[in-house]
Amino acid sequence: MFQSITVASAPSAKTKPQVLAIGYFKGEGLDAKAAKKDAGGTLAAALKRSEATGDVGSIVEAFPGGEYERVFLVGLGDKAKFEAASFRSVAAAIGRKMVAVKATAFHADFASAIAANKLNGKACGQAFGEGLGLLGWVCDQFKGTGSKAEDRDRKPLSATVEGATFLAGVEHGLAIAVSTNLCRTLSQTPPNVATTGFIAEQAKKVAKDGGLAIKIWEGDALEKERFTGLINVGKASENKPCLIRLEYNPFGKNAPAGKKGQPVVLVGKTMTYDTGGLSLKINNGMVGMKRDKDGGCAVLGAMHAIATVIKPKRRVVAFLAVAENSISDEAYRPDDVITYRNGVTVEVTNTDAEGRLVLADALCWACEKEDPACIVDLATLTGGVVVALGSTYCGMFCEDDGLRGKIEAASTASGERVWRLPMHSEYRDMMKSPIADILNSNPNRKAHPIQGAAFLSYFVKDEIPWCHLDIAGVHVAESNKGMFVEGPTGWGVRLLAEFVDSF
Ligand code: BES
Ligand code: MN
Ligand code: ZN
Repeated sequence: MFQSITVASAPSAKTKPQVLAIGYFKGEGLDAKAAKKDAGGTLAAALKRSEATGDVGSIVEAFPGGEYERVFLVGLGDKAKFEAASFRSVAAAIGRKMVAVKATAFHADFASAIAANKLNGKACGQAFGEGLGLLGWVCDQFKGTGSKAEDRDRKPLSATVEGATFLAGVEHGLAIAVSTNLCRTLSQTPPNVATTGFIAEQAKKVAKDGGLAIKIWEGDALEKERFTGLINVGKASENKPCLIRLEYNPFGKNAPAGKKGQPVVLVGKTMTYDTGGLSLKINNGMVGMKRDKDGGCAVLGAMHAIATVIKPKRRVVAFLAVAENSISDEAYRPDDVITYRNGVTVEVTNTDAEGRLVLADALCWACEKEDPACIVDLATLTGGVVVALGSTYCGMFCEDDGLRGKIEAASTASGERVWRLPMHSEYRDMMKSPIADILNSNPNRKAHPIQGAAFLSYFVKDEIPWCHLDIAGVHVAESNKGMFVEGPTGWGVRLLAEFVDSF
């Protein structure tokens, strides 16, 4: 939405703000500071207008004259419900209104509201920065000569804010938004461009920029390590599958093993396209499956944030299981039986339940080789989770109370909502196969999201805390609303960054 976003503590000589943005609570008038400055009563009068509802992110304009061209009176909702997270909507609303009135510089002063509820200024600033940064996402590289250039004529936005802690928060939030937007741009990239090789190149770029170690298994190396899920799911495509491992290591490569500690391990399903394979998707179910890589894109975005912004004092290892689920005479088939490196055999009943097959390779490897403190995987795994939770909550499976508490805390801080779904041995039993150990999908059509999680559980060692996040409902926004435009949300980047930050 903007060409660029800059934030500072005081307006520079060139960017004198045209707009002052201040807040007010629903049902309350101007706060004391604003009232004091409102000598002519213009602001108070504006709040008497019928559109001054006080709803979060609603904006009433006032023109008191003087220092600023106009004042945005921004609704903050009920005072009792006002929290740091409210600043995401507040920032997005201001950003949208700035575009609408063709203004390019604003000064934001929400100090009274922050003080009124004794909120954490840094957290408020971070939410504000995220809201602005996410709203600012631009992806028009696929527009050509057939659309108007002036539609892409975007203006730079500059903001100045009140208070050093709030400013530090905004800067942090904007930086996290950069990582999130990287994820969104990858998600948006069409499958004829974002091939498996393209994803590997992008991962190399993130690794180089962030000083991360990277290793990629492809071709014979996949065979050698018996990554059977990737090999089979990826077989039919001319874009060959790979497993990507990224490592953030604050101790240096040569640190003794004892010093390096157990890493947090992140795993992402990265299906560059999901046709369903021979169990082909029907009735328009295929459209949008370029976004079946969004688990991996979120993990890559999170690694970018970890390397460039969070810089935790703990190792973080990430795996992207990358393949294209296509069709050809070489495709894997329903009825095939495949054997994993941990010895578990899988009868393939449905080639469209492919995500769990590739995730299993990464989970096996991580448990065997990485000595993880915990594993968190993200995947657009099932349509069933969209039916169950819609786009409001991500489906969460986590039987470890400690890890679940940390994920839930990161969820609250990031505003990326998770809802726990159950695991029970009956679900694991549902995955048993009469021929092999397990099926990749039970044809009974029951509890699909839980079936997916139950399947994955066969590849995670019992003693390792593990969380599976089914993001199929939350990775894309259907409308242009709040800080999102229609398209990818980058779901998971902010939650994972927050999670690793406070692990
Ligand atoms: N990538 C899909 C899940 C999906 C569906 C994501 C809709 C986003 C929107 C996944 O690979 C899939 O096809 N799942 C099947 C599983 C079934 C065959 C057991 C599903 O959910 O229908
Ligand atoms: Mn599928
Ligand atoms: Zn899929």
